[in-house]
Amino acid sequence: MTISNIQGLRASFTRDEYTASSVFEKEMREVFAANWCHVGQSYQLGHVGDRLVAQIGDESILIVRNKEGELRAYYNVCQHRGSQLCDESGSGYGGAIACPYHAWTYSLNGKLVSAIHHDQESFDRECIALKQVRVDEWQGNLFVNLNEQALPLVEWLGSLYSKPRQLEKFEMGSLKTVLTTIDEAQANWKVLVENYSECLHCSTVHPELCDLVPVYKTGKTTQDDRPDWGASLAVGKTAIAFSQDEALPLLTSMDDMDDYSVFGAYVYPNMLIDVMPTCVAISTYIPRSATHTTVVTNYLFPAEVADNPPVDLGPTLSFNDLVNKQDISVSERVQRGVASQSFTQAYHTEMEKYAQRFVKQYRQDTQTA
Ligand code: FES
Ligand SMILES: [Fe+2]
Repeated sequence: MTISNIQGLRASFTRDEYTASSVFEKEMREVFAANWCHVGQSYQLGHVGDRLVAQIGDESILIVRNKEGELRAYYNVCQHRGSQLCDESGSGYGGAIACPYHAWTYSLNGKLVSAIHHDQESFDRECIALKQVRVDEWQGNLFVNLNEQALPLVEWLGSLYSKPRQLEKFEMGSLKTVLTTIDEAQANWKVLVENYSECLHCSTVHPELCDLVPVYKTGKTTQDDRPDWGASLAVGKTAIAFSQDEALPLLTSMDDMDDYSVFGAYVYPNMLIDVMPTCVAISTYIPRSATHTTVVTNYLFPAEVADNPPVDLGPTLSFNDLVNKQDISVSERVQRGVASQSFTQAYHTEMEKYAQRFVKQYRQDTQTA
């Protein structure tokens, strides 16, 4: 009997979908290479010549800021004999893109501008250029899309069930990153997304967070009496932090609310946004294999706080890192469980409605409905 036959429950993913490399390869093509993927923060490309290398499924993508100040993204592949151009760690300033193999050099607009040792040869340099992919930014976040047919970024964000554009009122583009953490989760990326999509686990996994956000104790992510999808902090609590004494300025729009509040959105397929009264945490999932996902989390604060913190930010940063690690730890526990030969398929209850929406979107993309 499959789980889909159990009355009142919705089928989630199968053991194979959590563990098999063949499924992983398919979803890298049909989910990650077909949708806008979050690859970093705009500040990383603040100057002409800044560059960033991002992994989208199997593809390495090089993103640069050109001399006109515009973003450009290319497959990270030299058009001579195919050497990868930049390493993932190879961010930094440069006026051109030089291949480390035979030094063919491309402008920031992707055109071949020089090929040493070939001055006497008359091949047509004009028709040699890096292969371009789509890149755009939203609220200080960089996105890349390998699908030429996809909707423009903002239109796409507006179509998502999690409504990330509702968070524009917090003006995330004006914030600055204070800390970036990188965690290697021994878990399938979908396990992490399902975990983020529900709060049934909050009372057992995040007792500290539940003390600050009471609705989480009930298993719900938002309050029924709040149409804005926010969740109120407990009376007397003002920040998602170990200490409530911090005199940090509130984010734009937080002032207008009756309660100190938190908001969250999963941006399919690989981004999480957590808005808190005084800061925002933005996480990116980078799937490495069926059982391994890199989680990059940026903690952003208003520029005046980031540049000159009025108080120690440690209590905020360490609290959020604790919650992040609790989620990773429980996701790794799930991954060990779903790998058992006894496990066939997961399922969702009615309260896991956002996880159900995620499965639905995934099934549409991969045509596995
Ligand atoms: S492969 Fe890049 S210059 Fe030869
Ligand atoms: Fe969690």
